[in-house]
Amino acid sequence: MLAIRNLNKRFGGLHALRDVSIDAPPGQITAVIGPNGAGKSTLMNVISGFISPDGGSITVAGTPITGMKPHEICRQGLARTFQNLQMFSDMTVLETVITGRTRHRRASLVANLLMTPRVWHDEKDAAQHAQTLLETMQIGPSYWQRRAGDLPYGLQRRVEIARALATEPAYMLLDEPAAGLNDEESVALGSTLRELAGRGIGIVLIEHDIELVMNFSRHIFVMDAGGVIADGTPEQVRSKPEVVKAYLGDEHGA
Ligand SMILES: Nc1ncnc2c1ncn2[C@@H]1O[C@H](COP(=O)(O)OP(=O)(O)O)[C@@H](O)[C@H]1O
Ligand SMILES: [Mg+2]
Repeated sequence: MLAIRNLNKRFGGLHALRDVSIDAPPGQITAVIGPNGAGKSTLMNVISGFISPDGGSITVAGTPITGMKPHEICRQGLARTFQNLQMFSDMTVLETVITGRTRHRRASLVANLLMTPRVWHDEKDAAQHAQTLLETMQIGPSYWQRRAGDLPYGLQRRVEIARALATEPAYMLLDEPAAGLNDEESVALGSTLRELAGRGIGIVLIEHDIELVMNFSRHIFVMDAGGVIADGTPEQVRSKPEVVKAYLGDEHGA
């Protein structure tokens, strides 16, 4: 279980997270939705160690990770993607995914310098692993040697998820993975995420796209103005007046 308890974060006078508690079990898609400014990205940044909380705790399978640095949190089995794509400008698709693998490279620095068989083996292993992940994300071999930044947007999103998967995470935090995708691409992404959950990965899906979330997640937490205002199954959440108000207010008012 990824357990988030009573997180609080203030930016000056702005209470960006108010006592946020969320449970995300392994092997399921747990969604966090809410209008723009609700605090979703702040929540994600706190969980992944990019921002430290003012209070509260986060544990992964019982291990406290609150206050750890991002790479330490990644080593605890928690990977993330970013709301804005961060493709390394000159890397190929394959190289981009291989960079995610570094957590698993065992060869020592000396071995690396000497290019011993162990290093060679690790690199071959990393490339093969990356190819498998790219295939999982439905990015075929014709794309692997292209510059990641040159791919169509929807495919870049998939490369980013493949890179997160390369760390072999127990949990993945995805910040608006469907942003900029058309309906068909969104549905395809939802199916892929469901497949990953089926392999045991706990997915925290942070989304503005309410339809994607309704169709693909097991449990939904709704945020507004920094707090969790409702949670439940898609059916339960859909019918709650406070959710309708927060969402429709945003959609129609903005
Ligand atoms: N680093 C920051 N400094 C100050 N205010 C911030 C910072 N990051 C986010 N905020 C503010 O916190 C609120 C929540 O933002 P965010 O977490 O990005 O919301 P969401 O992802 O739900 O759209 C917004 O009012 C935003 O302006
Ligand atoms: Mg956001």
